[in-house]
Amino acid sequence: MIIASTIEEVRAQVCQWKKEGFTIGLVPTMGYLHEGHASLAKKAVSLCDKTVASVFVNPIQFGPTEDLDAYPRDFSHDCNILADCGIDMVFHPTPEEMYASDFCTYVDMEHLTTQLCGKSRPIHFRGVCTVVSKLFHIVTPDKAFFGEKDAQQLAVVRRMVRDLSFGIEIVGCPIVREADGLAKSSRNTYLNSEERQAALILSKTVNLGKSLIEKGQRDANALTAAMKENILTEPLARIDYVDAVDGVTMQPVSQLKGQILVAMAVYIGKTRLIDNFSVTL
Ligand code: PAJ
Repeated sequence: MIIASTIEEVRAQVCQWKKEGFTIGLVPTMGYLHEGHASLAKKAVSLCDKTVASVFVNPIQFGPTEDLDAYPRDFSHDCNILADCGIDMVFHPTPEEMYASDFCTYVDMEHLTTQLCGKSRPIHFRGVCTVVSKLFHIVTPDKAFFGEKDAQQLAVVRRMVRDLSFGIEIVGCPIVREADGLAKSSRNTYLNSEERQAALILSKTVNLGKSLIEKGQRDANALTAAMKENILTEPLARIDYVDAVDGVTMQPVSQLKGQILVAMAVYIGKTRLIDNFSVTL
């Protein structure tokens, strides 16, 4: 597995692969990898001739009071996981390689970023769109792989690719969970044992939401109210949001019909965790 830290190295290798007629896959990550990331990497390796994974904790998608400095990092462990998945090249740039000191060009999206995580993290998606655009320009993949764990991010990236004509196929991959249901996340490492137990309220509430819809609930407010009430039974939990939105536009709905995303962000102690499910009705 090649480890590249400069944009130039990546471009040269990808150019060589393209000359040889290979298709290219890209798996963008912020590292501290777990089985969720590995599932994306394996899917990419299975669908593309050559696959690049990026490991970069992107400073511009973190707000001033967020966990940029505390974000967990373990690059050698990440490389072991990526090598096991069959990744061909890891791109691990420094912040300076990605952002010149006078960097001032951003990709900003309207509408899809106003709800859910966009409400409590106002600059987050601008940072995501900008770094993902840069990675797309650097790697020029045929396909790029994103997890449904970050459902709004997946919708935003799909829209950006359409709006800016990137000509890249975005492949969404299902949420990978721990045996007890907690969605795998690099941030789970922040939880102490009591909080780890309390964090199960997210997946339990996802299951509650699914079962209420199966039983016929079609009123979005009634659904999210029942889900919020369930979350509040957990004393360590503090709700950021629980919302039902249109699966494409990310705008709130009143009636559950068509493609729907039900998403939540919940603080367990100081750690903000997200979970979601999608349904088509
Ligand atoms: P990161 O949080 O490292 O996630 C990288 C990719 O792994 C994302 O597409 C995310 O949805 C996916 N992923 C994380 N946990 C998952 C799980 N439990 N199951 C399935 N997929 C999972 O998302 C980012 O990084 C960044 O915003 C990035 C896109 C790299 C831009 O900086």
